[in-house]
Amino acid sequence: MQITPLHAEFGATVSGVDLAAPLDAALFGEIDLALNRYSVLLFRNQRLDDDSHMAVTRRFGAPEENHVEFYTSGTIAYIGKIGNIDANGKQLRNQARKVVSQTANNMWHSDSSFRETPSLHSLLYAYEVPAEGGDTEFVSARAAYQRLDDATRNRIDDAVGIHDYIFSRTKVGEDAVSEGQRTYMRPVRQRLVRRNPVTGDKNYYVGSHVCAIEGMDDDEARPLIDQLINEATREQSVYRHQWQAGDLVIWDNRCVLHRGAGYDADRFRRRLHQTRVRGTGPTLAEPG
Ligand SMILES: [Fe+2]
Repeated sequence: MQITPLHAEFGATVSGVDLAAPLDAALFGEIDLALNRYSVLLFRNQRLDDDSHMAVTRRFGAPEENHVEFYTSGTIAYIGKIGNIDANGKQLRNQARKVVSQTANNMWHSDSSFRETPSLHSLLYAYEVPAEGGDTEFVSARAAYQRLDDATRNRIDDAVGIHDYIFSRTKVGEDAVSEGQRTYMRPVRQRLVRRNPVTGDKNYYVGSHVCAIEGMDDDEARPLIDQLINEATREQSVYRHQWQAGDLVIWDNRCVLHRGAGYDADRFRRRLHQTRVRGTGPTLAEPG
């Protein structure tokens, strides 16, 4: 296994690993350590299907059920379908509800930060990619934390952010959420600063789902949230991933923000499958 950095601040390409084959404990340990250190890992030229994708996912922990399916139809599904191809293989256009709803992913976020126990990692595998557009951008909120001055760190170190799925999703339209989602997905409290248990590095934990900071007036909290997101996502800190079919990207949702860069669903097909690994518990229970 070889590791080649993707960006000065974070991220690495891992080569010499076939993820469709079973991973022995030593190799998995190396991958897991690399993910703790680099936060984003890219594996090119893989030949996964849903079964092998799930097998890799389960090595990192328990899979997390897809929240759209679960809160809309009550179904437990572990494979999230990203892009504009429906269950029959038909291409959906820009105006389709699913395509519009997914444009909410074009805001910087951390997956499932709206759950009391948020995602540990996401694993996104590309089957079909557009000839233009459809990139995914990543930044490290760990590198961003390092850039903060002491006063800002002291202000946020023990703070609690409120994350709300309905708040963020309805930014792209009131019908971007289902009735079930509206009823059952309540705001949750998350630590604003988290620490990686393996490396000890701290980062802040923000994104589009954050609507407030506990105990802080909105006219103070909103500029602070925006300042943190802006600092993390400054241009030179972005790794922009241009997908190829056969790419698997695994990222650490504890400390990485990402967003979709958009594409023309009228012209192109895009089909990726995503799984998520459930976190080990509420962030408020993590040691500070
Ligand atoms: Fe996402």
